Amino acid sequence: MDSSSSGASKPLPDSFFERADESDDAHFYLTARLVTHIDPATIAALTEFYREVLPAGADVLDLMASWVSHLPSGVGYGQVSGLGMNAQELAANPQLGDWSLHDLNRDPELPYEDASLDVVLNAVSVQYLVRPVEVFASVARVLRPGGLSIVAMSHRCFPTKAIRVFHHLSGGDRLQLVARYHEMAGGFADIQRLDRSPDGADPLWLVVARRA
Ligand SMILES: C[S@@+](CC[C@H](N)C(=O)[O-])C[C@H]1O[C@@H](n2cnc3c(N)ncnc32)[C@H](O)[C@@H]1O
Repeated sequence: MDSSSSGASKPLPDSFFERADESDDAHFYLTARLVTHIDPATIAALTEFYREVLPAGADVLDLMASWVSHLPSGVGYGQVSGLGMNAQELAANPQLGDWSLHDLNRDPELPYEDASLDVVLNAVSVQYLVRPVEVFASVARVLRPGGLSIVAMSHRCFPTKAIRVFHHLSGGDRLQLVARYHEMAGGFADIQRLDRSPDGADPLWLVVARRA
């Protein structure tokens, strides 16, 4: 991505968000996929990162969740909620205390109260959002001051459902784009881009933003 076009106020082109499969996401996610989407070493690196940055007692939302949330065991979190598209996957997730079915591409507003959460996670799924700036504006709304938005990315995807621009971006450019989503959404400070990729496994690129 051209860094000269990264002004927070400049809108992102509509063409970024086109997808090969523009049909209703509900159809695509009707079938449960009880699989993992990144290598075990990459999952371990993500879990270790969560262990480092998520405080015990935190109220956590796993956005675009499935049957695994990659949270470390043995840490007493507060309420852990999940939001995703497949009831069978969410019901099978042992780390969730509650879950909701919600299509963020139809309605980017999160069904949670203002300032009710400490951490919002999004693991290996941000490439499926067609209205990401609205989603991250809602993430800012539901986070308490000082709370964290953590977006983890890698290089695998469901190609027909991933937005066009993700197919053309390097890891560094994906980080830049997701950082920009947060800048454009507003309400975030301290937006960091991290590379925690383990050797010889799927990469792990992270954007971490703090609710101002
Ligand atoms: C590649 S999976 C990742 C699941 C999980 N976060 C993980 O780390 O294994 C993509 C997830 O994004 C969710 N998802 C895709 N499109 C969505 C949408 N429009 N609204 C909400 N969730 C969506 C699906 O339910 C699916 O669980």
